[in-house]
Amino acid sequence: MKQIRRIKGTQDILPGQVRQWTGLEESVRTIMEIYNYEELRTPVFEFTELFARGIGQLTDIVSKEMYTFLDRGKKQLTLKPEMTAPIIRSYLENKLYALSPVNKIFYLAPLFRQENPQAGRLRQFHQFGAELLGSAEPHADVEIIALTMHIFQSFGLKDVRLTLNSVGDPVCRESYRTILKDYIRTRLNEYCEDCQRRFEENPMRILDCKNASCSALNQQAPKIADHLCEDCRSHFTEVRRQLDLLEIGYELNPFLVRGLDYYTRTVFEILSDRLGAQNAICGGGRYDLLAEELGGTPTPAVGFAAGIERILIALEAAEIEIGDTPRLDVFLVCLGDQAREQSLLWLQRIRQAGFKADGDFLGRSVKAQFREANRQNARFVLVLGEDELTRKEFSVKLMDQGQQITIPFAQVIDSLKNYNN
Ligand code: HAM
Repeated sequence: MKQIRRIKGTQDILPGQVRQWTGLEESVRTIMEIYNYEELRTPVFEFTELFARGIGQLTDIVSKEMYTFLDRGKKQLTLKPEMTAPIIRSYLENKLYALSPVNKIFYLAPLFRQENPQAGRLRQFHQFGAELLGSAEPHADVEIIALTMHIFQSFGLKDVRLTLNSVGDPVCRESYRTILKDYIRTRLNEYCEDCQRRFEENPMRILDCKNASCSALNQQAPKIADHLCEDCRSHFTEVRRQLDLLEIGYELNPFLVRGLDYYTRTVFEILSDRLGAQNAICGGGRYDLLAEELGGTPTPAVGFAAGIERILIALEAAEIEIGDTPRLDVFLVCLGDQAREQSLLWLQRIRQAGFKADGDFLGRSVKAQFREANRQNARFVLVLGEDELTRKEFSVKLMDQGQQITIPFAQVIDSLKNYNN
């Protein structure tokens, strides 16, 4: 019968790899705690309208990449492609603003986008991220960026670059859009097909095109930074001043526009040169109008999300191990039927005393059992055979020291505890 395989663009995270994930997740939780962020978990699916209104109908995510379906009640639902809109939905629905004027929220979640799979680009991927809700101050933008950089630092990931821009607000963006279109219009036929299509709908996305000839044409394009209104300009100046104060280095990228429509003012990405084409390990920015767009109370906000799979690729390329190497405290080698019965009992006692312990399931030879203990990096191998049963003691091999000793049954738990200290 034909074997069923996983869906293209999804990954199994195998037992040997899960430790990297849990190690990374633990680091994220630790730093989020230090910055006083609290976790919020939202459902895996939402009404499609949340993303259509939140992210923007014309974005690639909404127009081409969402997993959308009708449920049996004919409701249009979508597997969440990002977390910011669901967080805002939940914040408004649960009136979190009534609990505190500023809410600091973080998340770790699987997300779904029907993109063309390639290295670092999946259809189910995972993000961690944070959203600071309720503050319009540049200080909030800077805290989010500092938090992000701190997390990457905690992984030991050094060669990452922070790129920064401001996309203004709807008012200054509108006049900039006219100026930008005037520039592009005169050379529109030199741009790629995608850009030509974007020209009417979303001309600022043209600035983001990775096509070499388009980005060459873009070099001379008017820059939004030169067309910000007074408030947006002073916000951006203050963000940069505070980043300087914290000695957080950044590169200005006047062409950074991001692929989601909700951004206002500050936008940023963190890039790793250890990745290929998909070099953004993190993206974020301010989105002061999203809460209103979703029918809620006006709430200025800023946040970021980082792609876990891409970070793991960058860590591997940098030869950085995250998470502990698995190791057993005790491997119980047993020999003979009677010992087998007793070994069951001993394994239970040892485990109930809190030691990570395992034994043989296959009736293997002593030599093969030792090989298994070695493979599992056991600290102690306890041997239980006929002799040991008669003498009421274990033969014990201290694997790290290569030393062989005996321990009476009655003392084995205490001895293990002593060795542990
Ligand atoms: P985003 O730029 O769409 O932003 O995604 C953030 C990060 O998720 C990317 O930098 C990348 O590392 C990872 N990522 C995105 N798509 C994929 C994929 N198909 N496969 C693997 N990794 C991927 C957002 O999602 C915004 N919600 C970020 C944000 C939070 N803005 C404000 N608050």
